[in-house]
Amino acid sequence: MTATTSSRPISLTRFLIEEQRDTRHINADLRLLIEVVARACKRIAISVGRGALGGVLGSAGTENVQGEVQKKLDVLSNEILLEANEWGGHLAALASEEMDDPHPIPHRYPKGEYLLVFDPLDGSSNIDVNISVGTIFSVLRCPPGVKEPDEKAFLQPGTKQVAAGYAVYGSSTMLVLTLGDGVHAFTLDREIGSFMLTQRNLRIAEDTREFAINMSNMRHWEAPMRRYIEELLAGKGGPRGTDFNMRWVASMVADVHRILTRGGIFIYPLDAKIKDKGGKLRLLYEANPMSFIVEQAGGMATDGHDRILEIVPKSLHQRVPVFLGSKNEVERATRYHREAASE
Ligand code: AHG
Ligand code: MN
Ligand code: MN
Repeated sequence: MTATTSSRPISLTRFLIEEQRDTRHINADLRLLIEVVARACKRIAISVGRGALGGVLGSAGTENVQGEVQKKLDVLSNEILLEANEWGGHLAALASEEMDDPHPIPHRYPKGEYLLVFDPLDGSSNIDVNISVGTIFSVLRCPPGVKEPDEKAFLQPGTKQVAAGYAVYGSSTMLVLTLGDGVHAFTLDREIGSFMLTQRNLRIAEDTREFAINMSNMRHWEAPMRRYIEELLAGKGGPRGTDFNMRWVASMVADVHRILTRGGIFIYPLDAKIKDKGGKLRLLYEANPMSFIVEQAGGMATDGHDRILEIVPKSLHQRVPVFLGSKNEVERATRYHREAASE
């Protein structure tokens, strides 16, 4: 049998060049940006993979702006992404979960037209126990005429994202990406050191019998949330007439990755404990990029009432309730909340 070039796997580099040249979805700067983020994710994957041997487990002994204890890997991943992205000339500024304020591009480097916002290490509580963690990122355009982007420049609704993605550091390392035209998955070939395209146009099944939620918060939930989950738990004999299964990794990246692969609904609702904060997950670097990806894969994402991507952010680290995944379940859970609000 003769091998043909067309059967050869496509690298992320080739995929991006073709997106630029053939479909014109991206320009050279955005291509560079994605390549640089992917390279940084490879470095993070190496540190995650070395675990205790790399001396990267445990707490860094510091807190971030949100009062969360930073793990060594949170800090290291943040530094890797900053260092990789500062000098390429493709960015106007960066912002991250681990930094109080946006990080300007040092004056010695050229500036570009994009803003990058990221959760450098998602699922921090899983680092020390060898469970999948990830990196989430979102790309926005710097507003026209803004030379020194501050927090305000980042406060754009998710509909303005030009690209979003995540890396999941699991049994294999994967990069899942949208440039606003479907969702594509790449698997890291560790020998070659390249991300290879392993799935084009991922689609989320509209129906599912699997849900992901931290059930330990049930007593703090609002009534419509409790109603939705109680109906699922009632199984075959209940109003839904079917059995549902539950999964909760506690790394949003891993839970969303499962949903992209085999369907499901992921919920981090508002509850009495976190009501003052507005939710648990952060709008700009968790909810928005994941909602963009999920919508691009045919799924749905709301805050329980409205489409997440249309929320106009008020602050960089704003939190929101998140309902995302298989369309028909997200629609139902959202409907229960809307009905309760209009009573
Ligand atoms: P991060 O590690 O970036 O702070 O994010 C953790 C988030 C998210 O990944 C996950 O879905 C959720 O927190 C887990 O929350 P519980 O601790 O309530 O399970
Ligand atoms: Mn996170
Ligand atoms: Mn994080």
